[in-house]
Amino acid sequence: MSDKQADDQKHYMTLHDNVTGESWDLPILEGSEGPRVIDIRALYRDSGMFTYDPGFTSTASCQSSITYIDGEAGILRHRGYSIEDLAENSEFLDVCYLLLHGNLPSNAEKSAFEHDITHHTMVHEQINTFLRGFRRDAHPMAIMCGVVGALSAFYHDSTDIDDPQQRMISAHRLIAKMPTIGAMAYKYYLGQPFVYPRNDLSYAENFLHMMFSTPTEEYKVSPVLAKAMDKIFILHADHEQNASTSTVRLAGSSGANPFACIASGIASLWGPAHGGANEAVLKMLNEIGTKDRVAEFVKRAQDPDDDWRLMGFGHRVYKNYDPRAKILKASADEVLAELGVDDPLLEVAAELERIALEDEYFVSRKLYPNVDFYSGIILKAMGFPTNMFTVLFAIARTVGWISHWKEMLADDHQKIGRPRQLYLGETHRPFTQLEVREQSTAPSSSVDGANNGWSWLWGNKTRKIDNM
Ligand code: CMC
Repeated sequence: MSDKQADDQKHYMTLHDNVTGESWDLPILEGSEGPRVIDIRALYRDSGMFTYDPGFTSTASCQSSITYIDGEAGILRHRGYSIEDLAENSEFLDVCYLLLHGNLPSNAEKSAFEHDITHHTMVHEQINTFLRGFRRDAHPMAIMCGVVGALSAFYHDSTDIDDPQQRMISAHRLIAKMPTIGAMAYKYYLGQPFVYPRNDLSYAENFLHMMFSTPTEEYKVSPVLAKAMDKIFILHADHEQNASTSTVRLAGSSGANPFACIASGIASLWGPAHGGANEAVLKMLNEIGTKDRVAEFVKRAQDPDDDWRLMGFGHRVYKNYDPRAKILKASADEVLAELGVDDPLLEVAAELERIALEDEYFVSRKLYPNVDFYSGIILKAMGFPTNMFTVLFAIARTVGWISHWKEMLADDHQKIGRPRQLYLGETHRPFTQLEVREQSTAPSSSVDGANNGWSWLWGNKTRKIDNM
C-alpha cells in the first residue's frame, strides 16, 4: 500500500470554526484498548489555536504500553494482566519485573532480578550523615524527597540516560533502596539506630525488618503481615498517567537525572488528593471519633459551603468501584482477624463506608471508597505510624515511575513536556516610573486571587485536581 493510499484510509475528525468557516482534519488514533485519541499535534501549526484542558481530563499526554485502566468498568491491568490475577498469584518483585520488562519473569529471570534488587538495597554510608541533617520531627515524606533527590549526588555511574543499561541500573537501585530510605526516615524520627537490610529476606519481609526490628532483640517477621505488605506494594505499583507519574515524565522529558525525577514524583504523590489521602483518611477517622458522629460528617461532605471532603472516597478515573480497593478490603478483613485488632476507629470506618455507599450524593457522583481508604486501615492495624503511610505508597510506586521514565526515554515521539496556556493577564502597557506609581491611589490587586484553601486537608470542593 502506498503512503497516499494509507493516508486515504486514515480516520479523521473535522474541527470546524463556525465564525471563519475554516476547518481542519485531525487524525484519530486507535490504541489496543480504550478511548480513541484525536491527534492534535499539528493543530497549532495549522490553525494557530491551542486546546484547553486544565487537569488533563481529556488529554492523552503520551503513548504507553504499561498499564491500562477502564475506570467505568473498574478494570486495572498491567502489561495485559489483571490486578486481581497479579495480587492473587504473584509477588511484588514479579510485578516490578513485569512493569520494567513487559513480561512476567521465567525462573532464571526471577532469580537474577531478585538477586539484583537484593544486592542494591544498601545505601551509601554517607547518606546516613546526610539524613541526620533533618530535624527529628520532619515528615518522612519530606525526608524521602530530599534523600532520593540526593541519590543523584551519590550514583554517578548510572546516570547516562542515553544508555539503556545504565537506565536499568538506576531502576534497580531505586526499587532496591526506597524501602531502606523509608525505614531510615522512620528510625531517625524514633531516635533508634538504622537497621541494615538483610539479603535472606523477601522484599516485603526486609522492609518490615528494617522498620520494626531493633538491635536488642530478635524480630520475627509475621508471614501474614509480610503477605499483606507485599499485596499493598503490588496494588500501588503503577496506575497509568496519574499526577505523580506525569510529574516524573515531565521532569524526565528535559533529560534530568533519574533520581531527581523520582524525587519530583514523591513530591507530587505527597498531596492529600493523591497518595497523601491514606494519611488523611486516618486523620479524618480520628476527627470523626465515634460511630454516632459519622452521619453528621457525611452531611458536611455534601454541603457546598463546607470544604470538608470524605478522604478515601472518589477517584478521577474510577467511576465504578476501585478494583484495588476491593482486593484491599478483603485483605483488611484477613489482617484484622489475624492480628485480633479491636480498634474503635475501624467501627467508624465501617459505618462511614456503609452510609456513603447508600447515600444519594455519593451514589449519584459514583464516589466509592478508593484504595487509600482501606490501605490506611490496614497499615494502622499493622503498626505503621500515620505519617509513614504515604512513604509506603512511594516505595511501591517507584517501579511505576521508573518504568514510565524508561519507556518515555526509549520513545521516538519523546519531546520536552511544554504545555501552553490561555493567557488572561494584562495586555501590553507602558512602564510607569516609581513616582507615578506612588501617586496612584488604586489598591494593588492580588495576582493569584483569594486562596481557595485546601481545608478538607487543603481542599476546596470546587478545585479540580490532576488525575489520580
Ligand atoms: N467527598 C465529598 N465530595 C466529593 C469527594 C469526596 N471525597 N470527591 C468528589 N466529591 C464531589 C465533588 O465535590 C464534586 O461534586 P459536584 O459535582 O457537586 O461539584 C464531584 O464529587 C466531582 O468531584 P471532582 O473534585 O470534580 O472530582 P475529581 O475527579 O477532580 O477528583 C479526587 C477526584 C480523588 C481528587 C476526589 O474524589 C477527592 O478529593 N477525593 C478525596 C481524596 C482521595 O481520597 N484521594 C485519593 C485518590 S486514590 C489514590 C490515588 O490513586 O492517588
